[in-house]
Amino acid sequence: MSTHRIALSSAALALAGFVVAGDVAAQSAADTVAARQSQFKLLAFNIGPLVGMAQGNMPYDAAMAQAAADNLVAVASLNQARLWPEGTDSMAMDGTRALPAIWDDLEDFTTKFEALRTGVAEMQTAAGQDLDALRGALGGVGGACTACHDAYRQPQ
Ligand code: HEC
Repeated sequence: MSTHRIALSSAALALAGFVVAGDVAAQSAADTVAARQSQFKLLAFNIGPLVGMAQGNMPYDAAMAQAAADNLVAVASLNQARLWPEGTDSMAMDGTRALPAIWDDLEDFTTKFEALRTGVAEMQTAAGQDLDALRGALGGVGGACTACHDAYRQPQ
């Protein structure tokens, strides 16, 4: 019983330490940019096998396709509220390709992010069915990526 209590209180202390280390104010603009770029890397990593299967570059694998689509949904569901603070555009700082235009029309940017969420939800339904269904859903996902990049991502 008392051991249990001690374990609980050290867990609480560890948690408190984490909260201090993770203080929002202590996070730099560079950390924020790295976090949002990481979510896009995860999207690209998971769309990879879906594109590969659709293009016939790898055999269709229902379980792998489903897992990739599930991951796309999970990543796209992340709350974006802290990822796009003002002052983190490509004119204001180095290391980001986020165009200032995002902050001129945040509503449209949000709409384009919602289009991604719709596209990946459709992919989640289709990916594990068969190759034709996967192919049918890929345009919606890829189109959502491209529409936003064309408007809001600085070309390389
Ligand atoms: C609503 C807008 C939007 C959507 C939708 C979107 N992106 Fe992006 N993406 C961006 C922006 C803006 C950046 C630049 C971020 C930065 O550098 O701060 C970016 C950057 C990236 C990067 C580079 C990440 C890095 O390491 O710098 C990749 C890869 C990427 N996106 C892939 C995708 C894929 C794949 C999809 C679709 C499944 C997608 N994106 C959907 C806006 C979007």
